[in-house]
Amino acid sequence: MTPESPGAPDPLTITLDGEPVAGTAGQTVAGILLAARRRSWRTTSVDAAPRGVFCGIGVCFDCLVTVNGDRDVRACLRRAADGDVVESQHDPLPGAAS
Ligand code: FES
Repeated sequence: MTPESPGAPDPLTITLDGEPVAGTAGQTVAGILLAARRRSWRTTSVDAAPRGVFCGIGVCFDCLVTVNGDRDVRACLRRAADGDVVESQHDPLPGAAS
C-alpha cells in the first residue's frame, strides 16, 4: 500500500509477449490477464486451439505460460510481481517439425 492512497492495493505492471498489462499486488498472472480481457495465452500442440483459464485452481494446466524464463508456469497459481515478463507458449508435438 502506498502512503498516498491508504487502503488501495499497490499497482504493478507485467508484460505479456512484450505488451504491458496493469494489475495490482496480490493478483495472479491469470487474474491480471483476465481483467485485461485476455482470454487465451497458449495454444494446443495438435490444433493450435487457444487456451487460457479452464479450472482456475491449478489442476488442468491449460493456463501454462513462461514467466521470467521459467516455462510451464500455471498462470492461475502464480502471484504476479511487478515487472514479470510473461510469454505465451506455443509448443509443437514432440517429434513434429517446427
Ligand atoms: S486454469 Fe487450470 S491449472 Fe490453471
